[in-house]
Amino acid sequence: MMWSSSTARVSRTDPSTARLSNPQRPSVLVVALALCFCVACVDVPQGDELYVAHCAECHGSEGLGDPQRNDFYPGLDLQGSALVRGGRSGPVYRILRQGFGAMPGFDHKLEHDELAALTEHVLEIGRRAEAEAPAANP
Ligand code: HEC
Repeated sequence: MMWSSSTARVSRTDPSTARLSNPQRPSVLVVALALCFCVACVDVPQGDELYVAHCAECHGSEGLGDPQRNDFYPGLDLQGSALVRGGRSGPVYRILRQGFGAMPGFDHKLEHDELAALTEHVLEIGRRAEAEAPAANP
């Protein structure tokens, strides 16, 4: 009786035993860090990477289209597009999902969050173009 109660008192005051008594802390930290990496690197689709993979072959890496084909399809020039510069996500998202004229739709290839990231990337192309060279008739 005496022995066990005195041991308990020692473990409450000895700092090394106190640290051991809460062994979850480091593992919680490791899990939290791992989650951060997952969210940052794996789970969130990156609009710029998706654009390079799915769009740049026709629209060019900067969204300027293709000088040899822009005459036939002015829509290839995303920087010059009034729709893209207009800044509304709904119509752009619809075009990416369903396609538009000669452009194929991506609803069977890409998930909603990928299309949403691409929409934001396209609108960013439009915002940058508008900031650099505002349209003549706003
Ligand atoms: C196979 C070539 C091709 C690919 C791949 C392609 N597009 Fe297009 N896109 C076009 C063409 C051609 C048009 C113009 C269609 C027309 O006017 O008939 C167009 C039109 C658009 C428009 C409308 C522009 C406007 O003002 O009318 C947007 C926005 C767009 N594309 C974004 C994208 C994005 C983002 C991707 C990648 C997910 C993509 N496109 C992939 C060929 C392509």
